[in-house]
Amino acid sequence: MEELKQEIRLPRIGDPAPDFEAVTTHGTIKLEDYKGSWLVLFSHPADFTPVCTTEFMAFAEIYGELQKRGVELLGLSVDSVSSHIAWARNIEEKAGVKIPFPIIADLSKEVTLSYGMVHPGESKTETVRCVFIIDPNQIIRAILYYPLTTGRNMAEILRLIDALQTTDQHGVATPANWKPGDMVVMPPPKTQEMAEERLKQGYECKDWYLCMKKL
Ligand code: BEZ
Repeated sequence: MEELKQEIRLPRIGDPAPDFEAVTTHGTIKLEDYKGSWLVLFSHPADFTPVCTTEFMAFAEIYGELQKRGVELLGLSVDSVSSHIAWARNIEEKAGVKIPFPIIADLSKEVTLSYGMVHPGESKTETVRCVFIIDPNQIIRAILYYPLTTGRNMAEILRLIDALQTTDQHGVATPANWKPGDMVVMPPPKTQEMAEERLKQGYECKDWYLCMKKL
């Protein structure tokens, strides 16, 4: 029998974040509850697994930094609420780390499928390590995917949020390896006139298309 191939449409940068109403460790939560805040929605493969446990401790560690930037954090896996609660209690008991953010129990896989969090080549049943950065208008602004075996880098998640917020605030772009305080990049000029104007404006330009400035 021919295998039934289901088209999976992955959400993309710039798309409205797929709507959801989900059961979590903090009660029922809807996407619209986060309107007006930034949101980091992340998935992990399974509760009570080693890499995921290190990630949860690391997410708890940066929770204060996220809050300072107006960012909420929401976890997800296809485990039950009871499993999430037991795992969070275990992390607190064994490592002394309290998990302060809600975790979606997506047993039905509704949220998982609408965000394309299962990558069947990696695992047919578990969600891979996804990070969706959703802005206050509920637009997806960045997506990271990591395989089951690689824990995510919290410094990069914070750096990405800082870069997006800097872009929004100042209408600039950020260069490779940028971190807050570094020079930012002027977006490419759209006309010849803008290119010529730019060279007169006191930016640090290597040429008309690569101009940097301090904020
Ligand atoms: C882990 O978190 O350690 C893990 C989870 C699923 C597959 C492999 C590793």
